[in-house]
Amino acid sequence: MTLKTNIGNDSFDSCMMNASGVWCSTVDELEALVKSKAATFVTKTATLAPREGNPLPRVHHFGPNSINSSGLPNEGIDYYLAALANFEATHPNRAFFLSVTELAEDQIETIMQRVHQSDYHGLVELNLSCPNVIGKPQVGYDFETTARILDRTFSYFDQPLGVKLPPYFDVSHFDQMAEILNRYPLTYVNSINSIGNGLVIEQDAVTIAPKQGYGGLGGAMIKQTALANVRAFYTRLKSDIAIIGTGGVTSGRDVFEHLLCGASMVQVGTALLQEGPAIFARLEEELKAIMDEYGYTSIDDFKGKLKNTI
Ligand code: DOR
Repeated sequence: MTLKTNIGNDSFDSCMMNASGVWCSTVDELEALVKSKAATFVTKTATLAPREGNPLPRVHHFGPNSINSSGLPNEGIDYYLAALANFEATHPNRAFFLSVTELAEDQIETIMQRVHQSDYHGLVELNLSCPNVIGKPQVGYDFETTARILDRTFSYFDQPLGVKLPPYFDVSHFDQMAEILNRYPLTYVNSINSIGNGLVIEQDAVTIAPKQGYGGLGGAMIKQTALANVRAFYTRLKSDIAIIGTGGVTSGRDVFEHLLCGASMVQVGTALLQEGPAIFARLEEELKAIMDEYGYTSIDDFKGKLKNTI
């Protein structure tokens, strides 16, 4: 049995990895992922300059769920480019993902140019969906701006590029966003980022300090929204755009469902934060047990093959 998968021209021995933001801010954390059973890693979303992020406490866990308003704390693009150069040198047969964003449209162009001109030629994920920058909207909810950013980016950017999307909740939004994404030679689409601007209360108060307690929801409670988005884009996008499924994965069964909906790779956020990189060995075992039950020997046996009737 194999869990091998491909994203664009890159192949991976497993179909599970971290979600950007979780266990990927420092070289030590990335190293722990490389040594784990994870297929690969994606870095914390990098900005041009290092950022401290929002005031603490900014992450709160409740059961198998989380709320965060981290505000893109990161070491800056140069740090992650240097880290990737090292990982590529020491693991010449493995592909990794660099996540990037910026807070204004022209700054997004600057960071994409910076990556384009660097020695890094691997996979890049443009995060269009951070819900936690004070005073800034999620780009992925503004269809015109998204199209303009992709127009500008693809006028010069020639390495494998994916976009990280916010969750959509309306069929017309699935249609509109898919129509835009289908115009570009994207390598993949990653659905979903956290569900923005939830509010978690304990006793009589909010649980995180920034934004009067508002933050992105993650964990088991967002699985069904994530699956709907994965399925929506899998059924609408050109077949050469792969889907990465993110949201609500705590078990092998959850990975199985993301793959059934059409994901080629599944990312783990909240549960990785709660359990650490050893989670990948558990998820792998659980997924293989389910595949065994169905008589599947590779993920291509069932990827995207969700039954639409009962
Ligand atoms: O939930 C999230 N938190 N999504 C992002 O894209 C960024 C992150 C943060 O740093 O706030």
